[in-house]
Amino acid sequence: MNREVKKLQKLARPHVLGLVPYSPGRPIEEVQRELGLDEVLKLASNENPLGPSPLALQAIREGLQGLHRYPDGGCHNLREALGRSLGVKPEQLCFGNGSNELLELVTRAFVGPEDEVVMGHPAFIVYRSVCRAVGGQVREVPLKEFTHDLDAMLQAVTPRTKLVFLGNPNNPTGTCVPVTDLYNFVRELPGHAILVVDEAYREYLPQHLQPDLLRYIREGRYLLALRTFSKAYGLAGLRMGYGIGPPEMAEILNRVRQPFNVNALAQRAAVAALDDTTHLEETLRITETGRQSVQSLLEGLGLSYVPSVTNFVLVNVRAEGAAIASALFRKGVIVRSMEGYDLPTFIRVTIGTPEENIRAIEALGTVLEEMEVAVKPSSPPGGRSGK
Ligand SMILES: Cc1ncc(COP(=O)(O)O)c(C=O)c1O
Repeated sequence: MNREVKKLQKLARPHVLGLVPYSPGRPIEEVQRELGLDEVLKLASNENPLGPSPLALQAIREGLQGLHRYPDGGCHNLREALGRSLGVKPEQLCFGNGSNELLELVTRAFVGPEDEVVMGHPAFIVYRSVCRAVGGQVREVPLKEFTHDLDAMLQAVTPRTKLVFLGNPNNPTGTCVPVTDLYNFVRELPGHAILVVDEAYREYLPQHLQPDLLRYIREGRYLLALRTFSKAYGLAGLRMGYGIGPPEMAEILNRVRQPFNVNALAQRAAVAALDDTTHLEETLRITETGRQSVQSLLEGLGLSYVPSVTNFVLVNVRAEGAAIASALFRKGVIVRSMEGYDLPTFIRVTIGTPEENIRAIEALGTVLEEMEVAVKPSSPPGGRSGK
């Protein structure tokens, strides 16, 4: 490390030096350049393989002429549209530069150095990093069978707990908790602990697994449900997420956000995407059939995986996941290795188009053969058999 970096590090706040920068999936163009490949499959960031909604694209084109203006800092049109579609008051909504920003804002607003934040493990890595960034105390509760252990999470709550993060469905496992268990959890959680339910993948859930959290918000519970336009709505590149909570929650988050945190094109595109039910339905359809196809192809390879309710699948490759992901990468298939989630023998594969799914799992089969990883026919422990 060079001297200048070291000097600057002495000036940084100590807990910041303990943070690890988030490592995002690599852009396709960069990988194409590096490998000299024409075609690269990116199945690493749980994006929508169908692309953005055509209505959103049209709205973006129409908005280009206004780019010399600042965006509407209050997201008026989107607020009204979402309020109507969700049946909530507009003032219950808050908006972020992706739901990631809202994770950060809620932490910044409520968590200080002595405060505790309860979360599952493994869960979305950003929960941990936003908490550590403010010097908060991370209380990680191991998942049970790859699913949040709500009883254990409840027990982990102390008088010092400020926030509880619950990814439902959870990334990277692709599981969700039964709605009745979640309702009990909400009811039993002590009133001083704010529950943040991260619903980034909610749209992929069948109706009976989609919890009605709004009724607890109406009852006055301190609960913030976070959603995003990055996944099922196919707008990850625009960065648009929103939260639904009591009006007092939105009011507090408004105090810590930047005045123009959500850009003008994202606001327009989101309003249009909300209306594009055709695009959403097609997304859900290809995800559902794609997931079934990926899961049965994995079974064909003798691999176990965690049955998923989302647009990605966690696969136990029974070898070093990072090595398998690198070998796949060299073949132009980008997936996510999971050592950062303490799942060293797993990779996470996003559901793509039907062709992409077949290509990716075939490539995985080839890599396993080349690396002489014995997979067939038994299913080892460490991942539920998909069968
Ligand atoms: C569980 C979970 N929450 C939140 C996000 C962030 O989404 P956004 O693009 O809205 O910031 C992701 C993205 O991968 C995620 O997996």
